Amino acid sequence: MVQVNDNFLKLKAGYLFPEIGRRVSAFCKANPDAAVIKLGIGDVTEPLPPAIAEAIHKAVDEMSNRETFRGYGPEQGYDFLRAAIAENDFRSRGCDVADDEIFVSDGSKCDTGNILDIFGTDNVVAITDPVYPVYVDTNVMSGRTGEADATGRYAGLVYIPVTAENDFTPALPDQKVDLIYLCFPNNPTGTVASKETLKQWVDYAKANDSIILFDAAYEAFITDPEIPHSIYEIEGARDVAIEFRSFSKNAGFTGTRCAFTVVPKGLSGKTSTGESTLIHPIWNRRHCTKFNGVSYPIQRGAEAAYSEAGKAQIGELVSFYLENARLLREGLEAAGITVYGGVNAPYVWLKTPGGLSSWDFFDRLLNRGHLVGTPGSGFGAAGEGYFRLSAFNSRANVEEAVERFAKSLG
Ligand code: MLT
Repeated sequence: MVQVNDNFLKLKAGYLFPEIGRRVSAFCKANPDAAVIKLGIGDVTEPLPPAIAEAIHKAVDEMSNRETFRGYGPEQGYDFLRAAIAENDFRSRGCDVADDEIFVSDGSKCDTGNILDIFGTDNVVAITDPVYPVYVDTNVMSGRTGEADATGRYAGLVYIPVTAENDFTPALPDQKVDLIYLCFPNNPTGTVASKETLKQWVDYAKANDSIILFDAAYEAFITDPEIPHSIYEIEGARDVAIEFRSFSKNAGFTGTRCAFTVVPKGLSGKTSTGESTLIHPIWNRRHCTKFNGVSYPIQRGAEAAYSEAGKAQIGELVSFYLENARLLREGLEAAGITVYGGVNAPYVWLKTPGGLSSWDFFDRLLNRGHLVGTPGSGFGAAGEGYFRLSAFNSRANVEEAVERFAKSLG
């Protein structure tokens, strides 16, 4: 018989969101009349901004004509999109990022997992706890961990707690680590990192020859002008960081699929024999071998996100979800719940009431309020006793959810 990759058998449970989906399906089957409101997975609900939809339609028309039809595009993304990204997301903010440092892809989930292909398996990997589960699971799959303990923590990974006790600020590890995942604005806690915090990490990475994998998928939700949108706003970050960005949450692309990774051309690692080598050509090779590019119409849609109309419409979308976050935050606080995040991020992170475990609170909300959220422990051991609500929903559902939430507590 064919041997399977045993690393997959180390994975503790199903991926968090399918697991929630299974529980919700079972509940709905048993309670067919319950109008369940889902604030679990951070999936957008509002339609594509008109400027983007229009650009996609136009590109589909081009593809329907012999004269303007296109076959394979460049795997790294069309020049028009790479240039629009580099200019609007980085250079206009004073970040030195060249067009050919942008690699267009179909999602940050894929990119943050795929990037591991190009790094040796002996690297010591640090993650914050709680954390977006993809970082952990993809490290397990690629054989960078041992088995999980009873709390779900895998041997070999360095866990950095981010909880209310340390104001959700990850402390530098007291050992040398090679790869560091940072996500700000943070999923799941909805908290942000100051320039000073990111500078400490960049300095740590420089001193230890580490690489920071910086997931900025939620940067569009930053409202505080003091908070950096990109790691490249921090001096020296080009030498130590790869950044991941996505059109999913700001432009509504969760079903449309478009994202990108920034790999600075000067970023280097070392070979197994200790020679320095550049990361950019290795990632380029990986990307071009395993990926055939995002479709032309979708890249035209993403480009339209940077038009004047696109920017304005995206701004409205982001404000809409942030207003949902505010309603959730204030509604929960009024119900006596301790709440974090939700100001510069579309996630509200709360302390479960009465010391309930995260999954017990999940069951209570589902059974009493027909509400779905995400148990904090699903994001890691340090998330136990916390719970996440996503602000991605219609206004009517969010308002209804706040009412039901308060009623579920008693
Ligand atoms: C989440 O709910 O954490 C996100 O939607 C997951 C994702 O973006 O893949």
